[in-house]
Amino acid sequence: MNVLLTGGYGCIGSWITKNLLDRGDRAWIYDLKEDPKRMRLIMDEARIRQVTFVQGDVTDLNRLRDTLAQNQITHLVHLAGLQVPTCRADPILGAKVNVLGTLAVFEAVKQLQGQIQRLVYTSSAAVFGPPETYLPSPSGIRAGGEGPLADDAPLVPSTHYGIFKCCNEGNARIYFQDNGISSVGLRPWTVFGAGRDFGMTSEPTKAIKSLALGRAYHISYGGIQDMQYVDDVAKIVVRCLEAPYTGAKSYNLRGHVVDLPAFHRALCEVEPAAARLITHGDRQIAIAYDLDDRALQRDLGPMPLTPLVEGIRLTLSLFRDLQSQGRLDTADLD
Ligand SMILES: NC(=O)c1ccc[n+]([C@@H]2O[C@H](COP(=O)([O-])OP(=O)(O)OC[C@H]3O[C@@H](n4cnc5c(N)ncnc54)[C@H](O)[C@@H]3O)[C@@H](O)[C@H]2O)c1
Repeated sequence: MNVLLTGGYGCIGSWITKNLLDRGDRAWIYDLKEDPKRMRLIMDEARIRQVTFVQGDVTDLNRLRDTLAQNQITHLVHLAGLQVPTCRADPILGAKVNVLGTLAVFEAVKQLQGQIQRLVYTSSAAVFGPPETYLPSPSGIRAGGEGPLADDAPLVPSTHYGIFKCCNEGNARIYFQDNGISSVGLRPWTVFGAGRDFGMTSEPTKAIKSLALGRAYHISYGGIQDMQYVDDVAKIVVRCLEAPYTGAKSYNLRGHVVDLPAFHRALCEVEPAAARLITHGDRQIAIAYDLDDRALQRDLGPMPLTPLVEGIRLTLSLFRDLQSQGRLDTADLD
């Protein structure tokens, strides 16, 4: 596959790129500036040089289309986007990048129909509202419903970011309806692992990094979340690039649904010093966490799931190696 990743220098993109290169696929990164700092956490320089970088803004349709055409890109992964805090602080910029940028991606694919064989993009679990929204009650929006939320549960996000992701999912559906463009949308919750240095749910990864340094860290929230190891998400994206598929669905992902005390226990199992170094608050993040991923497993799966303790162990060990080489960037902690 010739794969282009918009926003490919981000956390998830770096891990997808690693997986693609490990398999022998070719990778192009389309991002605002050349900055492979997250790739350096998981790949050596020779590997990184195999990646072709193209400077570009995802909202620049002409540049994106020309890049896809000139490089004979066959598969597209759209990750470029601004995260919850940025969309909250500047919703107009957030909509420009997250909504218009995604429209530009679909328009580029439309103009190159026949060339691009698969488009996979990241939506988010933030398309769902707070957990209490979905309590089964006679007056609730899930009257009578119980158990994990299906992909088509009502989307009532509590952030602009979530609203923008809903908009993207809707536009994907319209591009399939009007232009026959198939796409796979994926809805991660908390992705954790090396490279996760920014965003509302980056704190568990920062806690692991602090542990590697022997430093104290307070996770500002508590409650229940769904945690997924970043390499699993990368492998799911790669699988969605190659599995036979027609349509434009948005799929829930499901990792490990755990409360913060359970995450803390997992940390202590890997590194007992977590008992004194890592603490957490009790605020529940306002996104439903019990998501049903059976549709994804059925349509495109089966999908990998690294045990939580193992994901923590791999991440801690990587951070410790980087620290011993003097290469652990702590700017996100300071
Ligand atoms: N990390 C998570 O837990 C998580 C959860 C749900 C959804 N997502 C979604 O997955 C995607 C990737 O997440 P991530 O954690 O890797 O994000 P990230 O913030 O690490 O990376 C985003 C990348 O997009 C690039 N970018 C931003 N604006 C751009 C623009 N105008 N043009 C081109 N590139 C631009 C950035 O430079 C960066 O490299 C995002 O769309 C995010 O909303 C992530």
